[in-house]
Amino acid sequence: MHLSPEQLQLFDRDGYLVLPNLFSPEEAALMKRETLRLYALDRPEIQREKDGSTPRTAFAAHTFSPLFAKVARHPRLIDPAMKILGGQVYIHQFKLNAKAAFDGDVWQWHQDYGTWQRDDDMPEPRGMNFAVFLDEVNTLNGPLMFIPGSHKLGVLEADHDLRTTSYPLWTLDNETIARLVAKGGIVAPTGGPGAGLFFHSCLVHGSNANMTPWGRIIVYVTANRVDNAIRRFKRPEYIAHRDFTPIVPLADDCLADDLRHAA
Ligand code: SIN
Ligand code: MN
Repeated sequence: MHLSPEQLQLFDRDGYLVLPNLFSPEEAALMKRETLRLYALDRPEIQREKDGSTPRTAFAAHTFSPLFAKVARHPRLIDPAMKILGGQVYIHQFKLNAKAAFDGDVWQWHQDYGTWQRDDDMPEPRGMNFAVFLDEVNTLNGPLMFIPGSHKLGVLEADHDLRTTSYPLWTLDNETIARLVAKGGIVAPTGGPGAGLFFHSCLVHGSNANMTPWGRIIVYVTANRVDNAIRRFKRPEYIAHRDFTPIVPLADDCLADDLRHAA
């Protein structure tokens, strides 16, 4: 999977890139079915909202789901990762974010690299998210909101918010967000199941709570360059991985057997 020079330019300018049909609807449906199976498991990687039951995210699914082990090595994610990041990559984090219908909670305004630098001592912003929508993401069901161009500002001052949601996050204050939005505005990329969304780890983003009847699952494969591996192991291994082995991408049809069995 190759990104065109125009796509690379857009990514550099805005800090994100939308790829409408990166995976087929069938591939997305397969991943969604597996995600729902994993959400029902009782294990520490499956994290719940503050209500204690609604799934919020499943970490490290690629370590205990054969399907997601393949997704984490999929060439439609790993080839662009190597291209954009400029070298071999390993998986720093792997998340299945739910944003459940009615009960999915907010993700406050933040930069991913703000957390990876402060918590994991990642040397440089040479890791980032390669996300895939498993549901229709529309403007109402808690899409990711980006401030275009904010990735150019480096790491901004942040506070460690341990209270707002069930998940600790280094978040930006309202004054900073207002200032950045006055310059860059806010966009909320939408798309159908299978759409890809790649974004820079310094891009300021967040997402609203979901009060619609439409759930919104997104897979986040966080790739990091192998020469930029983290140096602090404060967070659990399933949140910030310590296996820095370079990923060798699989074939483009690596999910074909799974699709056949599902049919
Ligand atoms: C994130 O920023 O890590 C997750 C945001 C979301 O899934 O809404
Ligand atoms: Mn984030």
